[in-house]
Amino acid sequence: MTSPLQGKHILLAMTGGIAGYKIAELTRLFVKGGATVQVMMTEAAEQFITAVTMQALSGRAVYTSQWDARPGNNMAHINLSREADVMLVAPASADAIAALAQGRADDLVSLTALARRIHECPLLVVPAMNREMWAHPATQRNVAQIQADGATVIGPASGDQACGETGDGRMLEAQEIFDEVEAFMVPKTLRGKKLLITAGPTFEAIDPVRGITNHSSGKMGFAIARAAAEAGAEVTLVSGPVHLPTPRGVQRIDVQSAQQMADTVLPLASHQHAFIASAAVADWRPTQTHQHKMKKVEGGATAPTLAMTENLDILAAVAKLPQPPYCVGFAAESEKLAEHADAKRRRKGIPLIVANLGPATFGRDDNALLLIDEHGQRELPRADKLSLARELVADIAKRL
Ligand code: CTP
Repeated sequence: MTSPLQGKHILLAMTGGIAGYKIAELTRLFVKGGATVQVMMTEAAEQFITAVTMQALSGRAVYTSQWDARPGNNMAHINLSREADVMLVAPASADAIAALAQGRADDLVSLTALARRIHECPLLVVPAMNREMWAHPATQRNVAQIQADGATVIGPASGDQACGETGDGRMLEAQEIFDEVEAFMVPKTLRGKKLLITAGPTFEAIDPVRGITNHSSGKMGFAIARAAAEAGAEVTLVSGPVHLPTPRGVQRIDVQSAQQMADTVLPLASHQHAFIASAAVADWRPTQTHQHKMKKVEGGATAPTLAMTENLDILAAVAKLPQPPYCVGFAAESEKLAEHADAKRRRKGIPLIVANLGPATFGRDDNALLLIDEHGQRELPRADKLSLARELVADIAKRL
């Protein structure tokens, strides 16, 4: 996967907290994502996890003091902050946040945060503390102050705490922090834009226990929703029945049938900047839905014949609205990909269609896409769906 953190240099500043152990895993994730990580630790941080561990995981010598004599100029706080693309304080203790709020400079972490160039090296702060400490007016005041000074606060989560209490203040898990830092680093090309996305299959009921559906997993549409939210868009995701978590910051509306999807999408569509139809909408539904389960009669009549009715083409209907959003369709083909997809684009009256080979994508984690508009084609070679979604979203952002 190509991460937005690829090639970025992260200054990871650890302060005192039992959540320090999660930073070992976070460091691994950063390195795996292609980032370089420079760890610095306060004296308190070293009470919970050793600098040896952090050095081994980051592959770089750890800094623990502003008096460290290794740098030629003896100014670790200047050098380390000038190299970094971002400074991440995690775990951020109540004391560390208070120091940041006051602009103190009496340990390496607070000193470096103060000495960094604030527009070139943004500050991300991941709180970790007992719920009473978090809820205390002094902490809340300090958090508001660092946000006003430009810091981005990530979390905290709610739940069981190391002290045995339950509430707000727990540090997010390593993967969640990683996702938040990734999202932070994505250029905000869709800030101020509203996107409506359909995803997944639809389910057309035959009776209360049976129905007609397809193999769409929803993974591509959910990845697009996540990528669009990362890029700063306000995202509404209308999803058929799938087993996927809602991407952070995305408003999700669950539906079952094509008709429910149409009824949800159409009233929202005119208020959007773009509509991305990635759902595999059933073309037909059973004309009649039986109220009770259809029973098999022993030695009785033959199998039932289902009369079918065509569903509304949601994408074509949105494209025909008096003030349509920028419409992006998907085409799942099994042959003559470009030819069939472009014909579909024209038929539906939409500016852009994303073509893929149906059997080679349904349910899989990777895909290959062909973007077709009136000017020609652009290929996005096989990659994981999130990487493709980020490329697609960047492409769409340029068109809006
Ligand atoms: N679509 C829709 N509403 C429908 C059917 C399709 O919004 N009732 C959208 C899909 O979300 C997708 C595109 O239209 O963006 C796919 O078009 P469609 O004609 O359904 O493609 P195929 O199912 O591949 O069509 P065909 O069977 O003709 O190949």
